[in-house]
Amino acid sequence: AQQSDTLNRALERYASEAGGLLPLLHAVQHELGHIPYAAVPVIAQALNLSRAEVHGVVSYYPHFREQPPGKTLVQVCRAEACQSRGADALLAHAEQTLGCKSHETRVDGAVTLEPVYCLGLCAQSPAIMVNEQQVHGHMTAASFDQLTAQWLQ
Ligand code: FES
Repeated sequence: AQQSDTLNRALERYASEAGGLLPLLHAVQHELGHIPYAAVPVIAQALNLSRAEVHGVVSYYPHFREQPPGKTLVQVCRAEACQSRGADALLAHAEQTLGCKSHETRVDGAVTLEPVYCLGLCAQSPAIMVNEQQVHGHMTAASFDQLTAQWLQ
């Protein structure tokens, strides 16, 4: 029920706006954590688009998830300031420690790992965000591993 309530609210708000598809998708993902497969035909019909068009947009933007994320969502910043301070190495370390690649969820569903582009914490780069709420700066492999211990409990 939560899914259809969320979808209905988003449709009411955006379906009649020009260019409403992207904000609508953002609203749905914000509430549900992903864009459910079943929502695609409903959105397509309301916006007078084909399913392929809506699906094309969802899969084009790496921001949109087609599957629910794992219990903990870990986003590693890969924008410029963080890049210059070792974000690539941090992401590689995260993949290894968490046992899943970027854009993937661990097999046990404990963690999803995603790249993200600037968390507004450039002065404390490299930075990560957890569950789209908590930001951590000055990340090192060691501080990452400390956090990981909580996520993999
Ligand atoms: Fe990573 Fe801004 S570039 S927080």
